[in-house]
Amino acid sequence: MDGPRCDRTEAWAALAGHYEAHGRQFDLREAFARDPGRFASLSVEAPEVFADLSKNLVDLATLKFLVDLARECRLEARRDALLRGEPVNGTEGRAVLHTALRAPRGQGPFSGEVHATLDAMLAYAETVRDTAASGIRHVVNIGIGGSDLGPQMAVPALDAFVHPGLQFHFVANVDGHDLAPVLRRLKPAETLFIIASKTFTTQETMANAHAAKAWFLANSERAGGADIAKHFVATTTNVKAAAEFGISTTFGFWDWVGGRYSLWSAIGLPLAVAIGAENFRALLAGAHAMDRHFAEAPLPRNLPVLLGLLDVWYRNFHRFTSRSVAPYHQGLKRLPAYLQQLEMESNGKRVDLDGEPLAYGTSPVVWGEPGTNGQHAYFQMLHQGTDVIPVEFVLVKRPTHALPELHAKLLANGLAQSQALMLGKTTEQALGERAPTASAQLDPTVLAKHRTFPGNRPSTTLLLDQLTPHSLGALIAMYEHRVFTSGALWGINSFDQWGVELGKALCSDLLPRLASGDAAGLDGSTAGLLARLRG
Ligand code: F6P
Repeated sequence: MDGPRCDRTEAWAALAGHYEAHGRQFDLREAFARDPGRFASLSVEAPEVFADLSKNLVDLATLKFLVDLARECRLEARRDALLRGEPVNGTEGRAVLHTALRAPRGQGPFSGEVHATLDAMLAYAETVRDTAASGIRHVVNIGIGGSDLGPQMAVPALDAFVHPGLQFHFVANVDGHDLAPVLRRLKPAETLFIIASKTFTTQETMANAHAAKAWFLANSERAGGADIAKHFVATTTNVKAAAEFGISTTFGFWDWVGGRYSLWSAIGLPLAVAIGAENFRALLAGAHAMDRHFAEAPLPRNLPVLLGLLDVWYRNFHRFTSRSVAPYHQGLKRLPAYLQQLEMESNGKRVDLDGEPLAYGTSPVVWGEPGTNGQHAYFQMLHQGTDVIPVEFVLVKRPTHALPELHAKLLANGLAQSQALMLGKTTEQALGERAPTASAQLDPTVLAKHRTFPGNRPSTTLLLDQLTPHSLGALIAMYEHRVFTSGALWGINSFDQWGVELGKALCSDLLPRLASGDAAGLDGSTAGLLARLRG
């Protein structure tokens, strides 16, 4: 490892002491009462994102200890190595340069290749968007994981900017229930299939791509001629495999673009078709602005760094195991799913860079739903469950619709939830209230206990002015750098994903067994299930 492991630093020991002395019993309500300047001192302004960190279980001393930890773990040197293009993905011997994809022309590493591909992809996107000439009405992205989740998250997020004459479909699952309902609504002549796969070998994507091609050929012949070259394009690093599949239009990228960091590359093609070249460039510019902030802002004012440090504080000292993300913007409905891959595939690791088992937790479970829907489902647990789960609210000040009365209600709900989590409600307060729906037979003191909220539950509020291509780019880049920060502190490789290999290999073994029934050498459970599935 280049630098000490976090749990062997002086700062880690100091944080452990600080946690015992002040962290375990920290009370947000008392902290606000003690310090009227708490909101100002614990909020951070980054490009496009204002973050209120004041409802977290920290004070300035905690942040100072966390920043000490970052320095002792050589976070700045690791960040600079990442941005310079050193092979920080050691197990695959690769650089990790998604930041180069959004650097202005002539500035980042590989700028010539990056901008040539970007120019070509955006020019192509514009030809598709000229629907009178292209005849395209439906765009179907076939890809999975990082070749799906980015555009699938961003297209609805930027719905206000999407071409009104085009419909977008995202097919990922090898379950035919994903592809079949999409195909039912398509006409070949009006459809563009984008086969998105970094490797162009992923089982699910290849199976869906072949099924789509068969459907296209079968149905276009009836409609008078099939033009695969016009209706299929590929976004991949494996141009040769795409050509073998029969695709002649390909937009490439490079092995230094990780799947879950690839929205900014040719994998963003469906988004580029949806929002157009100018808006796609604004997305990249927003991300680049956040890259600059990450690279240049001092650690105590560096938003992705502070969020990554909070993740370490909560995971390793408070021992919280999950974090809930609540975007109060329906367009961000797939943000939690996107973040699940970004964070959990990156930081769901159990050994350090030297392969030594870790003595501390890494990625929390990341989950969530848009507000206000989540309020009517799992927020009960956030308020009164036995586990403390930090919540991340994403609020957007100005909507991109013209229904202001709805938007005010949305914002009030988001604010109320973070307030309720923090303030809670005492049993005495509950006793003094009427509860019209409560049982009249119940002892009021028992009822008051059911209606008590412990409060002191932490949350972060991220505030955007408006959800635009530029601000979405900044927001997503912020999350990428936050994941890098916590991963660097944990001393893990955030850029490989060996954990997905074993299941893939076992699937290859089981697939022929489903046909043959051969259960030789299988464990009892798998053999039993195989028999039932064949029966
Ligand atoms: O699930 C593993 C994974 O390799 C992801 O990291 C990746 O985003 C996804 O599969 C898709 O891979 P590809 O783009 O090569 O089809």
